[in-house]
Amino acid sequence: MANPPSSTPSSRKNLFRFIIVTVLALIVLAGITVLIVWLVIRPKQLVYTIEDGSVHGYDMKYNHVNASFNFLMKVQNPSRKVSVFYDSMQVTVLYDDEPIAFDIVEPFFLSHHNVTHLMLKPVARSAPLLASTARGLSAERSFGEMELTIKMKAKIRYKVGKWKSSKRNLWTTCSSVGLLFSSSKSFERIKCDTNS
Ligand SMILES: *[C@@H]1O[C@H](CO)[C@@H](O)[C@H](O)[C@H]1NC(C)=O
Ligand SMILES: *[C@@H]1O[C@H](CO)[C@@H](O)[C@H](O)[C@H]1NC(C)=O
Repeated sequence: MANPPSSTPSSRKNLFRFIIVTVLALIVLAGITVLIVWLVIRPKQLVYTIEDGSVHGYDMKYNHVNASFNFLMKVQNPSRKVSVFYDSMQVTVLYDDEPIAFDIVEPFFLSHHNVTHLMLKPVARSAPLLASTARGLSAERSFGEMELTIKMKAKIRYKVGKWKSSKRNLWTTCSSVGLLFSSSKSFERIKCDTNS
């Protein structure tokens, strides 16, 4: 009586099938885990707004301008898991694309889901302007309001739990910041654009 053909090849086939299915399942599971972790800790974009602003000590002679600015800036971190180290932050105030005033913000830490307020005090000291730009600023002065752009360059690191990212640059632009020379009137809040 002949033995039935050994069952080994078919059970080996089943074993291979089982291993392949298991490996694929593990890969899919790992992918889903990574996706969920990423969705949970993903840094949400930091939100910058200028809440208040004023100018004083304004003077212009021979196309050179002096002025002291005050801006109250709110920085909001909407991420629930990601905190941010601000290692440095440079502030530049531009009038008609020409940089006129500068400030530096001390390093600070913004914890997750938290807000901080920064008092920026850029100063223009005999800042030179092109003749046409100076004419434009004088005209705005006579109307009682100037329109500025504020640009910020920050070096930041993200922190999730104990893990810290490497340094990266974060650029922020606040456009059409209207400042009234008579401080009695209200300031129109400005939302800024960030890109990292
Ligand atoms: C700006 O201030 C400097 C002193 O800090 C002064 O020498 C200069 O004349 C001033 N310029 C204007 C336009 O007022
Ligand atoms: C928010 O930040 C402030 C100042 O940095 C800190 O004192 C406060 O504990 C933080 N709040 C939360 C909920 O982390």
